[in-house]
Amino acid sequence: MTANPARYDSVAYRRCGQSGIRLPPISLGLWQNFGGNDVYETARAMIRRAFERGVTHFDLANNYGPPPGSAETVFGQVLEADLAAHRDEMIIATKAGYTMWPGPYGDYGSRKYLTASLDQSLRRMRLDYVDIFYHHRPDPQTPLAESMGALAHAVRQGKALYAGLSNYPPDLTREAAAILRDLGTPCLIHQPRYSMLDRTAEGGLLEALEDEGIGCATFSSLAQGLLTDKYLDGIPADARMAKGGSLPASRLTDAVRDKLLQLDAIARARGRTLAQLALVWLLRDPRVSTAIIGARTVAQLDGTLDATRHLGLSPEDEAAIESVLG
Ligand SMILES: NC(=O)c1ccc[n+]([C@@H]2O[C@H](COP(=O)([O-])OP(=O)(O)OC[C@H]3O[C@@H](n4cnc5c(N)ncnc54)[C@H](OP(=O)(O)O)[C@@H]3O)[C@@H](O)[C@H]2O)c1
Repeated sequence: MTANPARYDSVAYRRCGQSGIRLPPISLGLWQNFGGNDVYETARAMIRRAFERGVTHFDLANNYGPPPGSAETVFGQVLEADLAAHRDEMIIATKAGYTMWPGPYGDYGSRKYLTASLDQSLRRMRLDYVDIFYHHRPDPQTPLAESMGALAHAVRQGKALYAGLSNYPPDLTREAAAILRDLGTPCLIHQPRYSMLDRTAEGGLLEALEDEGIGCATFSSLAQGLLTDKYLDGIPADARMAKGGSLPASRLTDAVRDKLLQLDAIARARGRTLAQLALVWLLRDPRVSTAIIGARTVAQLDGTLDATRHLGLSPEDEAAIESVLG
C-alpha cells in the first residue's frame, strides 16, 4: 500500500504521560468487528483508512474476536498485506487478563498466563514485539508483584516495549506503578472505561495517572455507540445493541435517551455530531492521551476521526454539557 505522505500533517499528537511516546488523539480499537466472524475486507479497509488518516495506535487484546484471538490474526494479515513497511510508524498494543484458554493458566494474572499469552499474541499477529503489553484487569488471587514482574519480564525480553494497565482502580494503579518503576520498566499507559456516560475515571484515577506520569487511553469512548445519533429514535437493526452482546438494550433507559437528545442538540448547534462532541469532550482533559474508539464501517470511522478537525471546548460549551450530564 502506498500511504498518503501527508497523513501526519494535520494530526496533533499528544504526549502519553511523561513518556517519550506521542499518541494520536483518536486511536482504533479492534474489540468488535475485526474478528474471524466479520468480513475481512471491511476490517482491512478500516485499518488502512485509520493509518491513512494518521492513526498510529491500534489497540488489541488476546481475546478480541470472535472467536477469541481472531482479531489479532486478522490484524496480522492486514499488517503483512498492507502495512509491513510501516511497522516502525505504529504503536501496536495487546493485553492479557480475561479468559483465553481452558484450565487454571488461561486467565487473570499469573506469570505463566501472561507470558504464554503474549507469545500466542505475537504468533497470531506475526510480530517480533508489541509496543504495549497490558495487564487487562486486576487479579485478586495473584500477587501484584507477580503480574507486574511478568510485564517487566516481557519488556526485558524485548517482546514488548512498554507495560500498561487496564481496569485497575486508583490505589492499585499507584501500587502497580511503583513496582514497575522499581523493576526499571515504568508503566506507560492505563486504559480505563471513560466517556460522557461513565465518569468513574474522574474519581481519583486521572489524578493517580497524572501523579505517576502515566498516560491515559480511554476505552468505549462512545459508550459502545450510545454516544452517537443512532439510538435517538430507537434501536437500528444493525447496531451493536440489536445483537444481544456487550451492549444490552437495558442500557438505553428513558433517562439516558433524554441525555442523548440534549447532547445531540448541543452538538448540532455547534456543527458537530454527537460522536464528535463526545470525543472532543474527552480530549478537553490533557491527562487523556488518546480516546480509543471502535468502528463497524469506514464511514463511521471517518465521521469519528473528523472530530479532530476542531478540538477544544469553550467554557460555555463545557458548562452546557455539564448541566446535561449532571
Ligand atoms: N481495556 C478494556 O477492558 C477494554 C474494554 C472495551 C473496549 N476496549 C478497547 O476500546 C475500543 C473501543 O471500544 P468500543 O468498541 O466499545 O468503542 P466505542 O467507540 O465506544 O463504540 C464503538 C461502536 O460505536 C458505533 N460507532 C462508532 N462510530 C460511529 C459513528 N461515527 N456513527 C455511528 N455509530 C458509530 C459502532 O457500533 P455499531 O455496530 O452499533 O454501529 C462501533 O462499533 C475496543 O475496540 C478496545 O480496543 C478496551
